[in-house]
Amino acid sequence: MHSKEADFIKQNMDILCCPGCEGRLELSGSGLKCINCHQDYPVQDNIPQLFWPSEWDPSRQDVTEEIKSFYEENPFPNYDDFDNVASLIEKARNGLFAKLLDDQIPFGVRILDCGCGTGQLTNFLAIANRAVIGTDICLNSLRMGQKFKEKNALKRAFFYQMNLFRPCFKPDSFDLVISNGVLHHTSDPFLAFKTISRLVRPKGYILIGLYHKYGRIITDIRRRIFNITKDKFKFLDRRIISKDISQAKRDAWFMDQYKNPHESKHTIGEVLQWLDETGFTFVNSIPKTVLFKGLGESEKLFNPDRLGNLFERFLVDIGMSFKGGREGGFFVVIAKRSNLPPLSGQE
Ligand SMILES: C[S@@+](CC[C@H](N)C(=O)[O-])C[C@H]1O[C@@H](n2cnc3c(N)ncnc32)[C@H](O)[C@@H]1O
Ligand SMILES: [Zn+2]
Repeated sequence: MHSKEADFIKQNMDILCCPGCEGRLELSGSGLKCINCHQDYPVQDNIPQLFWPSEWDPSRQDVTEEIKSFYEENPFPNYDDFDNVASLIEKARNGLFAKLLDDQIPFGVRILDCGCGTGQLTNFLAIANRAVIGTDICLNSLRMGQKFKEKNALKRAFFYQMNLFRPCFKPDSFDLVISNGVLHHTSDPFLAFKTISRLVRPKGYILIGLYHKYGRIITDIRRRIFNITKDKFKFLDRRIISKDISQAKRDAWFMDQYKNPHESKHTIGEVLQWLDETGFTFVNSIPKTVLFKGLGESEKLFNPDRLGNLFERFLVDIGMSFKGGREGGFFVVIAKRSNLPPLSGQE
């Protein structure tokens, strides 16, 4: 293990735990070991492999292994051939969302990017003075993120293999937990939310990006057409034929959007219920829950915004079916941990 990764683990031992038994971990040889159940966790390519299977009742569906195999074959979103720190910054800041995040997340905080894929956001947010841990089940994706980090000498990004249903972090460990485009690829998105929400410290924030129930309509229609025509008419999705991005990234987008083995769809109303049940308060969302309110350069992502009423939210939901086609029909909710989550017996 590189000394930077080992130093980071030593400095952050208090937040790590065994994903199998929640016992304490210690550095052991070139890896990690649980001092309670004695499980060894190797570190390869500077990535601690702390994956633990979900271990649900066999009667319950668990797509974790299937999704893992899919992303091992198709790491997402992948990198452009020429990517470096400058291009990463340029591309991220061209997108308003990443720019606002970078401008408004304070320095010195600890962030978990849960389901980080190939780690663009992890690396981008870690360029400034923030410790960002990107976790994913997919080792090939993590290796790409780690390779980019090493090539560009980024000091504060770290990549760990972890199943979000079996965290290798203790509760209350992060100022901000981000999970962008991940929970809808699990068998139980609410359980996934509950599990990662426990990792947020009191008064910390969670940000989740999910597929929208109506926002996916255009993508679903395209998928049908692709399936019927054996993937002809790919030009119907401009990103697949864009000359501005590498073939690897275009392929990754095509596979992620149109050949994914599992995805679910959600609404902001549903997420509001999740927040209620876990002791979080709504802060902001994209799109806004209020009619005719867009996202501008001056948006304060972490300032509490007015939550639209049921009727406004209904119209915003419907509106998603018209504009969902371009970015994959995605919505984002930011929430703040307000109360202590209910005791496990009361859940
Ligand atoms: C669509 S990609 C999103 C990647 C990245 N967050 C982004 O926005 O570009 C979904 C990612 O979720 C990861 N994932 C799915 N189920 C997971 C689980 N149970 N634990 C951890 N990661 C998971 C996949 O391996 C994949 O890399
Ligand atoms: Zn253990």
